[in-house]
Amino acid sequence: MVLIIDFGSQFNQLIARRIRECGVYCIIEPPTLAIERMREMNPLGIVLSGGPSSIYEANSPRIDPRIFDLGIPILGICYGMQYMIDTLGGKVQKARKREYGFAGLSIEHQDEIFQQVPKQSQVWMSHGDSIARLPEGFIATAVTDNTPFAAVADSKRRLFGLQFHPEVAHTAKGKQILHNFLFAVCACKRNWTMQAFARDIIAEIQQKVGDRKVILGLSGGVDSSVTALLIHKAIGANLTCIFVDNGLLRKNEARKLKKTFKEHLKINIRFVDAGKLFLKALDKVVDPEKKRKLIGKVFMEVFEAEARKIRGVEFLAQGTLYPDVIESRSAFGGPTSVIKSHHNVGGLPKRMKLKLVEPLQYLFKDEVRRLGARLGLDPELIWRQPFPGPGLAIRILGTVTEKRLNILREVDAVLIEEIKAAGYYRKLWQSFAVLLPLKSVGIMGDSRTYEDIVAIRAVTSKDAMTADWAKLPHRLLGRISNRIINEVRGVNRVVYDISSKPPSTIEWE
Ligand code: XMP
Repeated sequence: MVLIIDFGSQFNQLIARRIRECGVYCIIEPPTLAIERMREMNPLGIVLSGGPSSIYEANSPRIDPRIFDLGIPILGICYGMQYMIDTLGGKVQKARKREYGFAGLSIEHQDEIFQQVPKQSQVWMSHGDSIARLPEGFIATAVTDNTPFAAVADSKRRLFGLQFHPEVAHTAKGKQILHNFLFAVCACKRNWTMQAFARDIIAEIQQKVGDRKVILGLSGGVDSSVTALLIHKAIGANLTCIFVDNGLLRKNEARKLKKTFKEHLKINIRFVDAGKLFLKALDKVVDPEKKRKLIGKVFMEVFEAEARKIRGVEFLAQGTLYPDVIESRSAFGGPTSVIKSHHNVGGLPKRMKLKLVEPLQYLFKDEVRRLGARLGLDPELIWRQPFPGPGLAIRILGTVTEKRLNILREVDAVLIEEIKAAGYYRKLWQSFAVLLPLKSVGIMGDSRTYEDIVAIRAVTSKDAMTADWAKLPHRLLGRISNRIINEVRGVNRVVYDISSKPPSTIEWE
């Protein structure tokens, strides 16, 4: 295992993903981690991440300096390197010129870190401070035009520092450099596979749960589905899944899910048909936040009522992923403002005195997909694009009615069919339709029409934090528009959303 100390860089999760891509398990911990705990973890290597602070700031994050006496190889990146140099007796100062963007790296000393890296290569920089003097034992191993200490090393103590970011794709040989740290310096083994993970986590669930009962809210997304499969493998019939059909789902979605889970996977599952309740709660509601809050509230009530029918439940399983775990304990970010309220069953464990089981809390999304494939989950479920909890209600601007839901379902079905046929479904983060609260005039045959408008939204993204509108081919857009207007009654105009996030969001509400 490799330990990453999180000094707050926006790239930290990337470091972890790169290391795991090399087949090595790693975890991210805050700098407040006690040195005793670090010893217990016994990592093969430690990465000190970058961060937004300057080492001179009064409250810049620091870690117990005894970390350098553990005898474990350490790689400091950007702030992590500056912290190491400063702590070990060197000097860091404000750079004459803030460096941001590409730089040409020249290797002057080809140590283990630079195996199979050409003497000249492109790296990516983002820093305002630089090293002015090295501590004893260190040498500079690479330079750039602006930085005589672009890479430094004390190979005797196996301490390495990089001023640039090896984890970002802009650093041409970044992956090789991380690979070298893991295998040439730390002697890690490539043993992080989804097969090994599944074996270990299933045993862990068995140990934790024993012969007690677990409930799980199944949404039909990949996270809750993989969670269900894992727990089912561990405890079989003691798992009960609850699927709340809120009536805000896409065409045939509930039916397909039923089939997959009941018939193919033979998992205990309770379907609650609650569409009417949700529609009643949403009656005449227009405000997006109100919609979200109401849907969250009704969902909780329905879920809890169903859960209480199952006797002797002690655990609630959730498909929480590693990025949520890291973000929820973010050491540096202040409280962020609520842009959109997401609902979940957060309050339930306390009210029903349930303990949590979160088997995916160590994994990134791409790992969950790989794990799902290993466990034999239907590829359609594995590659399903994200779908928001409040469902189509937040894609129908204005009031939500059964009639409008049906229009949007038909539009969405046509859209997804065309996107899949053109081979775009997996390339896009999301592609969906939004029903606008407006009508426009059209002409059909010889007569005037006055009907609904739908907007098509298709975006590319890595993590939904930022997103670009997708540059779909005009021919595909044309086909989508033609089919929607011809096939869906009540729609006479289709527009394409060409806004990116930020400043827009992915969903319209
Ligand atoms: P926004 O619209 O904030 O969406 O750019 C970012 C991502 O989150 C999804 N989303 C939700 N997912 N419950 C969810 O489970 C929600 O309430 C919710 N709202 C937005 C959205 O589809 C996108 O992928």
